[in-house]
Amino acid sequence: MRYLINFDAKLMDNYETDVLIVGSGISGLFAALNIDEKLKVTIISKEDSKTNNSYMAQGGIAVTFEAEDIESHIEDTMKAGGYYNDLPAVRILVEEGRKNIEKLMAYGVEFDQEEGHIAFTKEGGHSIRRIVHKKDYTGKEIIEKLIEVVRKRENIVCYENSFLIDVLTESEGVKGAIALIDNQKKLIQTNHVVLATGGIGKLFMNTTNSSISTGDGIAVAYRAGAIIEDMEFIQFHPTPFQSQGEAFLISEAVRGEGGILRNKNGEAFMGKYHPMKDLAPRDIVSRSILKEQKVQNSPEIYLDVTHFEEGYFDKRFPSIFNYCISKGIDPRKEWIPVNPSEHYLMGGIKTDFNGKTNIEGMYSCGESARTGVQGANRLASNSLLEGIVFGNRVARTINSSGSIVNKSIDINFSELIPISDEYSKDILELKKIMDESANILRSENKLLEALDKIKKLKAVYENKCCNEKEFMEFKNMLIVSELIISMALDRKDSLGSHFMEDSNE
Ligand code: SIN
Repeated sequence: MRYLINFDAKLMDNYETDVLIVGSGISGLFAALNIDEKLKVTIISKEDSKTNNSYMAQGGIAVTFEAEDIESHIEDTMKAGGYYNDLPAVRILVEEGRKNIEKLMAYGVEFDQEEGHIAFTKEGGHSIRRIVHKKDYTGKEIIEKLIEVVRKRENIVCYENSFLIDVLTESEGVKGAIALIDNQKKLIQTNHVVLATGGIGKLFMNTTNSSISTGDGIAVAYRAGAIIEDMEFIQFHPTPFQSQGEAFLISEAVRGEGGILRNKNGEAFMGKYHPMKDLAPRDIVSRSILKEQKVQNSPEIYLDVTHFEEGYFDKRFPSIFNYCISKGIDPRKEWIPVNPSEHYLMGGIKTDFNGKTNIEGMYSCGESARTGVQGANRLASNSLLEGIVFGNRVARTINSSGSIVNKSIDINFSELIPISDEYSKDILELKKIMDESANILRSENKLLEALDKIKKLKAVYENKCCNEKEFMEFKNMLIVSELIISMALDRKDSLGSHFMEDSNE
């Protein structure tokens, strides 16, 4: 179905803006700040403006400050991505990193310093230390500072607890959008919509993602006819702390600073699986953990930092330290229990190098976009970098096309039947299907079975509508799940994070 709800645009309350940005993670905020101040920009966030994956980012931002490191950052990105990345996009990412980091700093973002210079850390897949960070709460530092600047800008309006229902299109492109703002359905008249809606972690039971991560932007774009690509490439972070349904990230920077993965007998096992050991690219570490769990016939895997110099861990990683203590583990004396969980989507809404989709007036940046930089497996700490580099490019593109707000939108849609059924058990069912099929190890049989179940679930709800945000999210989740499973089935051979047990790596 083309839209999520029945509506008649002519009868709706309307709201005008030159640019609508959906999502207040790093790419959405950075795009907003770089749009010409003569244009009215409206940012909507599904929950509060800090509930997003960027805010939760711990490790940092990979950035090349020295010209001689450019080629090695490109090579590390391509290698981690299985050389499936679009090389020109990767070159843009790396070459435009520094100037955008400097812009972030000009907005007030602070990174850790060492002897008067920025301190760099290391994570998996990086050949050198090139990650700028603020202890283990880099995302919080960035988002809080950017929000402060956004709030001072007179041309930017922010609405929290607001939900994009659909982008309205006609043959010439974007005509506007419909959103729930303060629980009221509003028609938004605009001809620039930036989808910066983040990840899809909530399609799985265990994820490091924030609660908003149901892939809404991808589903909205898909319904509007945007090209969606590479959805089979989903990264599972190797070392979240698992506790009562939560997957709290234990940053890869912990291994970058010397943390060691151990099996239940205390053996440092990563050397058996990859020459880079604990700092191999993430897809490889996650699969190695699964192999080790199978070999030892137990899920017990630990991250050991007990050998760190006294006083270092709690100072360098205070959020992780406090979380572990709250769960009864003192990392200075005990190993931290870890297990891989969904972390990042490499695919998404296909864009060109300026964040433009195939639909005139629709853009995407950040995790919801498929810019080509992340390939089949993202290099650690390249995601915030992608957010600023391509967020800035989206802004530049919008600045060069200016404002032409659509004055009248004459679209109505009435094909859906209001529903009163209980659907929440099917959300759980969908997550179970995704866990069983689209996880770290995949097989054609499991994927085929999953596709069949998802199609059946989709058919139940296809022509139904309901005013509850959760129902709309669920319909979005069904679309995104089907895209993931069908693209995974189309890719017969293993590549990067897409690992088919029944094919060779
Ligand atoms: C981490 O700190 O391990 C996550 C950083 C990232 O996702 O690149």
